[in-house]
Amino acid sequence: MQKILLAISLVFIGVNSYAAELNIPNVLKTGDASNGSSLVATCAACHGNDGNSINTDWPSLAGQNQKYLYDQLVYFVNGERKNALMTAVIPYLKTLSSDELFDIAAFYAESSASVGQADSDVDLLALGESLYRAGDLSRGIPACTACHSLYGEGNIQAGFPKISGQQKGYLISTLKEYRSQSRNAGNYALVMQAASANLKDNDIEALANYMHGLYRK
Ligand code: HEC
Ligand code: HEC
Repeated sequence: MQKILLAISLVFIGVNSYAAELNIPNVLKTGDASNGSSLVATCAACHGNDGNSINTDWPSLAGQNQKYLYDQLVYFVNGERKNALMTAVIPYLKTLSSDELFDIAAFYAESSASVGQADSDVDLLALGESLYRAGDLSRGIPACTACHSLYGEGNIQAGFPKISGQQKGYLISTLKEYRSQSRNAGNYALVMQAASANLKDNDIEALANYMHGLYRK
């Protein structure tokens, strides 16, 4: 237990000095959700009308924090983050101002997220829970709770994403992309490249299943 606590506090020290380096503002800019709702018609086919995706491979955006959503939109617009399905809307996103991207982020952030249902395989759940909560020091895997919180809400101030209830297929593919370092947009991606470096496919499957079904009761 002491070893695990040490690992968690080391992660926290890392995050704090990292946050200081990036000079993350405490008071975040907030967008106008009602204007945002008028800008997302072309997004609904994949992300749902309210940001709850119905396809396991496409991420839900509902309830995600604004800073994270805004940053990812900017990465897509810049071409730093690439995805075949998202390319269709990049020309449209490029016509929007930075304020309008914030409005889209605000719209999804204020939308309520639906809850996922984990596969009840006992071994898979036990592995997912143990890795999510405690990591595995001997294998260099940090506890996910350190940054994504116990129930997966993430960290709004820092812009660490909420992962609770996220679609399972998307969680698997994106963790594999961090692991192979093909998801590499922005400095924050480095944190996840390190956190996922030593995960095996089975660990990723277990974590994705756990996160999909995770929520605050
Ligand atoms: C044809 C399907 C499709 C459409 C239309 C689409 N998206 Fe996406 N979107 C995706 C997929 C798939 C991903 C996951 C990309 C990846 O794996 O890197 C994604 C990722 C995202 C992400 C990052 C989510 C995360 O958790 O990191 C944001 C934000 C986003 N889309 C916003 C939008 C907005 C805003 C629109 C409308 C202007 C839109 N998308 C239209 C399929 C789509
Ligand atoms: C030190 C902080 C930290 C730790 C520990 C951490 N994460 Fe992350 N995680 C982040 C940050 C920051 C991002 C956003 C990275 C980016 O912008 O690409 C992120 C992104 C993610 C995403 C992508 C979310 C999305 O919507 O695309 C997933 C999935 C994820 N983390 C899962 C995990 C898992 C599983 C663990 C534990 C093995 C973990 N994280 C440990 C900080 C952390």
